[in-house]
Amino acid sequence: MLLTGSKCLFREAEWRLMSAQSPEQIVETLIYPYLNHAVRMLEAEYATAGDIDNGMRFGCGYPAGPLAVLDTIGAETVRAALAARHAETGDHLHEPAGLLVTLAASGGSFAAAAGDASAAPTLKRPISSVGVVGTGTMASGIVQVFAQAGYDVVYVGRSAEKLDGVIRYITKNLDRAIERGKATEDDKAGVLERLTGSTEREALGGVDIVIEAIAEDLDLKLQLFKDLDRIAKPGAILATTTSSLPITQLGQATSRPADVIGMHFFNPAPVMKLVEIVTTEETSPEVDETVRALTAQVGKVGVSCADRSGFIVNCLLFPYLNDAIKLAESGVDLVTIDTAIKEGAGLPMGPFELLDVVGNDVSLAIQEELLAEFEEPGFTPAATLVAKVRDGELGRKTKKGFHDYAQ
Ligand code: 3HC
Repeated sequence: MLLTGSKCLFREAEWRLMSAQSPEQIVETLIYPYLNHAVRMLEAEYATAGDIDNGMRFGCGYPAGPLAVLDTIGAETVRAALAARHAETGDHLHEPAGLLVTLAASGGSFAAAAGDASAAPTLKRPISSVGVVGTGTMASGIVQVFAQAGYDVVYVGRSAEKLDGVIRYITKNLDRAIERGKATEDDKAGVLERLTGSTEREALGGVDIVIEAIAEDLDLKLQLFKDLDRIAKPGAILATTTSSLPITQLGQATSRPADVIGMHFFNPAPVMKLVEIVTTEETSPEVDETVRALTAQVGKVGVSCADRSGFIVNCLLFPYLNDAIKLAESGVDLVTIDTAIKEGAGLPMGPFELLDVVGNDVSLAIQEELLAEFEEPGFTPAATLVAKVRDGELGRKTKKGFHDYAQ
């Protein structure tokens, strides 16, 4: 399995995207550019090696992070294969990163850099109650995370029906946990008791931190942050779980940008352990440390990064998903790709299964943001992704995406 061991990889001549058919070729075609991209992120000092690896492990359930995988396969093996592919495609994304070339030449590894744990953060501001704005999948999952960790949670939605949806989501998850012997009826009652739903944002006046998880629409979020500025008590932290919008701009919509920070959760939030903690240039160190401590207190793994499109994980994940679509467009069957990635690379979901979970509209928006930020022609959204969104085939939520969920 590529991500967990063998150095026995494939013939460089078989790199050609158009002819990639065997499971080994599929894995290599899709995974090596992702590894290269992770090296570029490290090289640019956007995040530490430890945070890059933890991001993919805890955000996407990968058995190992990309830099650890590179150490396992060997920098020279990956460099040589990428160089051969680059000679064919001319795509900058396939050109071996400078640091990869250096490590390949010196026989060095990324492992030393990955062990860079810093001191455990502490709560610099007291947090006993949490507010969540939104009632969708991410918001519901975040409400569950905090209530399960013992926090009182005030959650705000646009209608009583939407508020009920949050309770239904959490109840379903807890019932499943009870069925599996992982929770008791008492646990469930305790979690539900800690929840207070409201259709009025004013209900957030007393909480210590607000996490917004409403639609990815800048105007809506700017208006929300203006309201939060008016409503939240002094010293309250204002967090956003946006995956693609500029957090700096949200901070500037308030009179307290030092209190504004990103807490990017992953789907499904109760299960995925990662939170990307995104600071702007204005976020105060005290707010950053408090959020890092809070993240650990609710059982999640925090990684730190600056306010840039895609942060760590989406920046590495979505170009790989987009490449998978382009590979399918070249004639390789979707199920063959999904199976190769799960069985050959050991990833928990195939790219098309994951695209359908995330939603093709969300994936397209993220890919467009990445293209705009990095201006890599290789990030151009795959034509099929654009078509799926145009046709309303958004994934599991519309019962049809790359796969069919009609029954
Ligand atoms: N909500 C709550 N809990 C859930 C859940 C859900 N939607 N789906 C599964 N679970 C729980 C199960 O109850 C089970 O809990 P247990 O171990 O305590 O019994 C556990 O998760 C494992 O579930 P299953 O055994 O049913 O299923 P799998 O083994 O197939 O695991 C998975 C499911 C954890 C979702 C796994 O497939 C995975 O890790 N997938 C990767 C998901 C991923 O990459 N997410 C990131 C997407 S990108 C993103 O979110 C960023 C955004 O900006 C777009």
